Amino acid sequence: MLNDSFRYDTGNLCGDGIPLQAIVQAVGTPVYVYSATRLRHNAARLQRAFAPLKAELHYSLKANPNLTLVRILSQAGLGADVVSAGEVDRALRAGVDPARIVFAGVGKTPVEIAFALQARIGWFNVESPDELALLDRLAAEEGYTPQVALRLNPGIHAQTHPHIATGHAGAKFGMPSDVVASLLAVRHAYPHLRLVGIHVHIGSQLGSVTETVEAVRLAQTLAAPYSDVRTLNIGGGFPVPYTTDDRYPPLEEFAQALAPLVCDWRVLAEPGRAVVADAGVLLISVTTVKEQGGQRFVVTDGSMTDLLRPALYGATHQVVPLVERDETLAPAVVTGPVCESTDVLHRAALLPPLRSGDLLAVLTAGAYGMAMASNYNLRTRPPEVLVEDGGWRVIRRRETWDDLLRLETEALGGVSAL
Ligand code: LLP
Repeated sequence: MLNDSFRYDTGNLCGDGIPLQAIVQAVGTPVYVYSATRLRHNAARLQRAFAPLKAELHYSLKANPNLTLVRILSQAGLGADVVSAGEVDRALRAGVDPARIVFAGVGKTPVEIAFALQARIGWFNVESPDELALLDRLAAEEGYTPQVALRLNPGIHAQTHPHIATGHAGAKFGMPSDVVASLLAVRHAYPHLRLVGIHVHIGSQLGSVTETVEAVRLAQTLAAPYSDVRTLNIGGGFPVPYTTDDRYPPLEEFAQALAPLVCDWRVLAEPGRAVVADAGVLLISVTTVKEQGGQRFVVTDGSMTDLLRPALYGATHQVVPLVERDETLAPAVVTGPVCESTDVLHRAALLPPLRSGDLLAVLTAGAYGMAMASNYNLRTRPPEVLVEDGGWRVIRRRETWDDLLRLETEALGGVSAL
């Protein structure tokens, strides 16, 4: 969706006033472009919405771990929600205060836990009894006592795509309420941990606030007998609209629904998508256009390797031309060149007549875009550009073929890229 940062100005799609065409001329396509202004705006909006809950916000790095973006968000006052030692490392390098790092994840390895303990991160969200015992042992060895929240699987089906629902009984995430209850009852058996919280994250792109409220209530009921367990990590999941037809509750509605419940609680949250999704676009070029099977296929140099969400979740991202055109719009299947039928960026984009070389923007691509990009078909991952203070700069360069070969141990010489 277009917004205050990404919109047309005298017929040209701009990022905070900078014509995106100028960036393409310099850097080529495909390329991700982010708006620093929009990032800061989103961070401030979350901070405002959650101020009545005094919530401590942790940006979920998995949505977009680009160092520069994490640094901006850290400077804007957000901590970090991480799910791997790699993300711990990235958050630290971006300048996030270790005390403001929350480590979630269903299968943290001993090596990852030890690394995070050494870094003195503030919180672990623990997802199994085994992990709790392991963490206690490693914390003893490290001589550091972290805060711990037990991740509750509340047995609630979130209204969202099944691939990104995490709070129902069949999901691998967290622990059912009876297990959480029994661990809370013996929490003093883990003397090297401060087991003071409960964590719930029931899914991403949540379609309603009801299930979140229900999950928080259950967490509170479980913690009620223990006056030292008064922290609630409510996870992330706050949805964003991808098209003008999308009807999701705004994040303010989540905050308002929870505020009356959590007055006496310390609250943490882990938003990812709501921070970065609409702060990024993916720019692509049309390679060829062909009509077949009654459809117009617009084949582009962008692909599922750059933006996996349409292929993986059937997600819809609006696709618009970089130069506004006053011509009749007709549906087109926007695809990439990858050898998979599911290599689709949009199944029915309304676009003007197009030909080779025309430029398009895939909107609302800042979250889970570059983060999930791959080198399938030996495609190099796109560069990332940041628009800030009336200018723009490359914050991650385009990969080269040398980059792709760097880890292969029997590589010979060759050209580095086209
Ligand atoms: N906390 C935990 C424990 C999570 O698992 C996640 C996301 C978040 C926070 C942040 O959720 P958000 O605020 O971004 O909804 N690749 C998928 C989304 C996967 C989300 C995984 N966990 C997509 O492209 O839609």
